[in-house]
Amino acid sequence: MSTTIELTDGGAPAAAGTPGTPGGGEIRCADLVRIFATDGVEVQALQGLTLTVEPGEIVAVVGASGSGKSTLLTILSGLDTPTGGSAVVAGTDLLTMGHTERVRYQRSTVGFVWQQTSRNLLPYLTASENVRLPLELAGTLPRRERARRVEALLELLEVGHVAGRRPGEMSGGEQQRTAIAVAVANNPRVLLADEPTGELDEATSVEVLEALRGVNRETGVTTLIVTHDPTVSEHVARTVQIRDGRTSTETLRRTEVDEHGAERHVAEEFAVVDRVGRLQLPQEFVHALDLRDRVRLALEPDHVGVWPAAPGQTAEPSPLVEPVETRTAENRTEEDR
Ligand SMILES: Nc1ncnc2c1ncn2[C@@H]1O[C@H](COP(=O)(O)OP(=O)(O)OP(=O)(O)O)[C@@H](O)[C@H]1O
Ligand SMILES: [Mg+2]
Repeated sequence: MSTTIELTDGGAPAAAGTPGTPGGGEIRCADLVRIFATDGVEVQALQGLTLTVEPGEIVAVVGASGSGKSTLLTILSGLDTPTGGSAVVAGTDLLTMGHTERVRYQRSTVGFVWQQTSRNLLPYLTASENVRLPLELAGTLPRRERARRVEALLELLEVGHVAGRRPGEMSGGEQQRTAIAVAVANNPRVLLADEPTGELDEATSVEVLEALRGVNRETGVTTLIVTHDPTVSEHVARTVQIRDGRTSTETLRRTEVDEHGAERHVAEEFAVVDRVGRLQLPQEFVHALDLRDRVRLALEPDHVGVWPAAPGQTAEPSPLVEPVETRTAENRTEEDR
């Protein structure tokens, strides 16, 4: 795995091909904190999360259960308020918005798709009626154009054939694709999906992820999907890993064409650095060199070196001491012994 540090803030050069411009972004979270206090016990669900998503991008946030994915999405959807940090979506500051702004934000700026198919659609309305409902609530589209828009959305999501069916008469995949049509009915700037394939089998999950990608491509809606399923990264250009309430690494996928015209998919992993320079080392790196308590750092002209503290070293490393090679049981020299 090649790991490159991506600087998300400040004037230092970002690694080639990394997304995000300081200050830009349709979704901008910096040092986001969410603490839940229940029965006197504090849970830090988000511990200084930093994430930028550019307009029109489709990004997947992947993490284990309890890593803070739903907490992040609930905040971005305007249903919850963070404890600290900053979150700005489509120009709306989520920490300071008032009640009226919040309602407008939820109705027209963001659209959501939840994991539970039953939470996305009203069971007593047909697919057409479900998609028509947000159009009627918003009232921005003239009445005569609504039927045409409903039809176009169902076609776009390839669920035209279930237009007259209620959710109970549709498959899980058809329900989720209809739910995406509902979510983008009023042309939101941002589409949020929390485990949209959590209740689906593998083949249907692929269909739904491709449907999200299709909508993103056709409408340009900035799309954020959170899931524990790492295979989602095959469907998006950028995957952000979340660990213990913080974004840790990012995987960027791109297609290269070689001199013979053959296409090659390249995936590169980057570590995320927040505004004050904190980064998480990938767990496999930590385990491979048994890094713990403290490490030695060295600034080189074009990279930073990280070394485990030498065996038996307990005091802070002196800045005058040159960094030593990694000392593991396998490569200790006679001198070390
Ligand atoms: N309302 C709440 N009150 C107290 N703790 C909460 C609340 N919501 C979430 N948490 C805690 O915050 C942490 C993150 O939860 P979150 O639901 O965001 O995780 P997740 O990544 O979505 O997990 P999963 O993959 O299981 O859905 C967990 O430890 C969870 O128990
Ligand atoms: Mg969740």
